[in-house]
Amino acid sequence: MLSYRHSFHAGNHADVLKHATQVLILEKLKTKAKPFVYVDSHSGAGLYRLDSKEARKTAEYETGIGRLWSQQTDFPEIEVYLTLIKQLNPDGDLRYYASSPLIARELLREQDRIILMELHNQEVEVLRQNMAGDSRVSLHHRDGFEGLTAILPQPLRRGLVLIDPSYEIKSDYQQVMNSVMLSWRKWHVGIFAIWYPILSQQRDQSGWLLEQLAKIPCKNLLVAELAVSDQAKNYGMHGSGMAIINAPWQLDQQLASLLPHLHSSLAQAGQGQVRVEWLIEGL
Ligand SMILES: C[S@@+](CC[C@H](N)C(=O)[O-])C[C@H]1O[C@@H](n2cnc3c(N)ncnc32)[C@H](O)[C@@H]1O
Repeated sequence: MLSYRHSFHAGNHADVLKHATQVLILEKLKTKAKPFVYVDSHSGAGLYRLDSKEARKTAEYETGIGRLWSQQTDFPEIEVYLTLIKQLNPDGDLRYYASSPLIARELLREQDRIILMELHNQEVEVLRQNMAGDSRVSLHHRDGFEGLTAILPQPLRRGLVLIDPSYEIKSDYQQVMNSVMLSWRKWHVGIFAIWYPILSQQRDQSGWLLEQLAKIPCKNLLVAELAVSDQAKNYGMHGSGMAIINAPWQLDQQLASLLPHLHSSLAQAGQGQVRVEWLIEGL
């Protein structure tokens, strides 16, 4: 049974890193007129209310998108992302937050395609309502790890796969690895963006995941991490990262410029750090 609900976490610092990176990649794909496909293996509900009981209980968004919103943050690498969140909240009060499928729906063009997977019975129904009436979207109520390998390769040669599990089950790390390996073999030219948490010393598995990903004989592998506090010994998530296979040209420079800004807006004073690094470069 799936217990994780993203509504408790929507708009936190990890979402900011993930969605800002997603937007940069989608905008890069849009620089060519040729159509592309966006695939989301763990989609979530599409849209989250930040004034919901769940979001208010943890108030995680307050130290994520809430900070950028109240500081009226403005730098070029997150302009498109922030504009999108502003469009969802036209009266100036931050009440709605977009998840990855909605971001894709807003940014993709008529010729592009969107494939979404979500396993949770209730989340998938909300997602269905949020995506209703858009003929570019195919929605699958299924396991995203298995679904990803089943639907690839796609007729469109270019595109982005976002893999964003909750990692609430320990085996998610191994499942991510298996799924990325199998789907990359089927689609060498696709961009794969994998989100992962950075946890306390005793629980953190990000190092293992990156080691495994770096064994894939892909063209390149870029890592971008944002930690907003120091690593605790035994509990908590103090940061997160994005591992990007086949990272588009100049994404490293954009993230290297963006992350210090995000860190100074979102981190606890004097804590945390950022990292932008090629684990595999330019093969
Ligand atoms: C971190 S949330 C996704 C958030 C969303 N991608 C975003 O950017 O806001 C992870 C989602 O994966 C769903 N999920 C969990 N296990 C899954 C599986 N094996 N296949 C597909 N979806 C799954 C959960 O119900 C949850 O909605």
